[in-house]
Amino acid sequence: MAKIIALMNQKGGVGKTTSTINLAACLAVAEKRTLVIDLDPQGNGSVSLGLDSSQHTACNIYHAMIGNADIREAIYETELPNLHICPSDNNLSGAEIELVSEFAREAKLKNAFVSIQDDYDYILIDCPPSLGLLTVNALNAANSFLVPMQTEYLAMEGLAQLVNTVKLIKNNLNPALEMEGILLTMFDGRASLHKQVSAEIRRHFEDKVFETVIPRNVKLAECPSFGKPIILYDIESKGSEAYLALAKEVILKERAAQVDQDQIPAVPNASQIDNSVTQQLQ
Ligand SMILES: Nc1ncnc2c1ncn2[C@@H]1O[C@H](COP(=O)(O)OP(=O)(O)OP(=O)(O)O)[C@@H](O)[C@H]1O
Ligand SMILES: [Mg+2]
Repeated sequence: MAKIIALMNQKGGVGKTTSTINLAACLAVAEKRTLVIDLDPQGNGSVSLGLDSSQHTACNIYHAMIGNADIREAIYETELPNLHICPSDNNLSGAEIELVSEFAREAKLKNAFVSIQDDYDYILIDCPPSLGLLTVNALNAANSFLVPMQTEYLAMEGLAQLVNTVKLIKNNLNPALEMEGILLTMFDGRASLHKQVSAEIRRHFEDKVFETVIPRNVKLAECPSFGKPIILYDIESKGSEAYLALAKEVILKERAAQVDQDQIPAVPNASQIDNSVTQQLQ
């Protein structure tokens, strides 16, 4: 069953799309079957993976969530064999309003996933820069959320609101939702402000912050215009190195969680409990 990770932060321009696309591409080269869901009406993720909006105006994430389209028809191949994308376009901007009167409007994405969750190892959702109904759908459908954060002044501003939204989702819709981690992005090691802010974020969130830090790297800013993830655009760049390290961290974290699960002793069934109680009484 796919692990579903929502990349979210209501702040704009913090590296959500860059991280979704490039983490997904690195997971795909690690032979993980990976799907990107572009849940942002800006459609940046779709363009960054080489899709032209004319290719998918008839069937994309909008049709899978709002219409009756099967999500499988809204999934497209990319240059990487293990990487697929469910794209979006401007139509999705009306979705929040269209969904308002719909039954179970927060579960549209979750319901759309039912038919594909065994087809992938990872599903990464690129959220829009808001905490509206689209992001709520993403958090309701996800197993975990990842917060890209720029190491700039005011990076943590707005975080209380983000945490509040997550709490609301956990309490009302998706109790199993976990924090995947905070990802420091666009880091410039020469800037003392960046070092101060990243130290402050690590002090605050401790081991919830990924060890991998994404550096500011011009190749990462260039590759979307070629419709390629960084590992196909420049494998030797610092950006490639960082997202490959992040993919490794994500995979190892999931493996460690799996081992923890396996070590939980099996719960005895009712008849075994009855037997052992009876034995003790004898
Ligand atoms: N590590 C990086 N180094 C250099 N440029 C970067 C890096 N990460 C992202 N960028 C650039 O910064 C801009 C914002 O990044 P991105 O689109 O990933 O942010 P976002 O959070 O998805 O934005 P939005 O909130 O608008 O969806 C883009 O032009 C992107 O190419
Ligand atoms: Mg984006």
